[in-house]
Amino acid sequence: MREKILEFLKKKQGYISGEEIAEHLKISRQALWKHIHELKEGGYDIVAVPHLGYSLQAAPDRLYGFEIASGLDTEIFGKKIFYYESLSSTMEQAMQLGLEGAHCGSLVVAECQTKGRGRLGRSWFSPKYKGIYFSLIIRPEIPPQQAPLLTLLSAVSVSEAIKNITGLSPAIKWPNDIILNHKKLGGILTELNAETDKINFAVIGIGLNVNNEEKSLVTGSTSLKCEKKESIERLGLLQEILRRLEVNYLGLERRGAQPIIKKLRHLSLTIGRQVKVYSHHRHIAGLAVDIDTDGSLLVRTEQGLVERVVAGDVTHCR
Ligand code: BTN
Repeated sequence: MREKILEFLKKKQGYISGEEIAEHLKISRQALWKHIHELKEGGYDIVAVPHLGYSLQAAPDRLYGFEIASGLDTEIFGKKIFYYESLSSTMEQAMQLGLEGAHCGSLVVAECQTKGRGRLGRSWFSPKYKGIYFSLIIRPEIPPQQAPLLTLLSAVSVSEAIKNITGLSPAIKWPNDIILNHKKLGGILTELNAETDKINFAVIGIGLNVNNEEKSLVTGSTSLKCEKKESIERLGLLQEILRRLEVNYLGLERRGAQPIIKKLRHLSLTIGRQVKVYSHHRHIAGLAVDIDTDGSLLVRTEQGLVERVVAGDVTHCR
């Protein structure tokens, strides 16, 4: 109901009488008053003037589920949203919801995380209201060996969304780093609940620095605000990320990996670079020559051997 009230208030300029809203939404004046009270508690600046009615003056910068859902034209992603002011990690919550049978496309979003986690046991700094931190539960019909494609698909989707919303053009450091001007802007973490031949569900976790100030960023990272020199509306960006994720995900299921790999090759910062890779207790050094159709990185060593890296930690050399 809150979203309907907001939609109505946003549509109409100036004041609208309580009677008109209540009649339009077929609720009592008392119920309306209660919802308006809740919205105000949630940070909406709604002014009530006797004999005139209500007017929405300003909306807070929050990623409330009903705000994300409003105007989100996706088929599956974000159809069910779990919103939290604070969580230890959206991954933890999403893995639990996945076990409990949450539908494909269910979204767990938090305004901050106290134990945000990154790849390879690293942590993800998640200050309140500054970034976008979410985990998406999916149930892909692909074999577990193809799961790395989910990370790549997500990195492509985030880059596309950032470009569409801000005009900035981030690149991708294989496999999961979103990079802008040589600094890390965001990252992807994919976790699986799988058997040898079947993925029960996967959780794609995305963390993005959006409105962080330079002084409060981890060394070597940046935010959209720092690069664009203006604040970015997180809600619109999150909705666009979900749209791009869904388009690319359905594309993967229907047309296979080729279209995603093609996009990735264009966005890749890694291809053509001398790299050092640490993968499965092995160090590999050489020229990153390509990304294969299964998403693995192909590295040509000094001996002329092309090594296939499925997962690992990559360092770009000068
Ligand atoms: C990385 O670059 O190492 C991946 C970072 C992933 C961070 C996101 S924030 C939302 C989700 N919840 C987490 O705890 N981690 C991911």
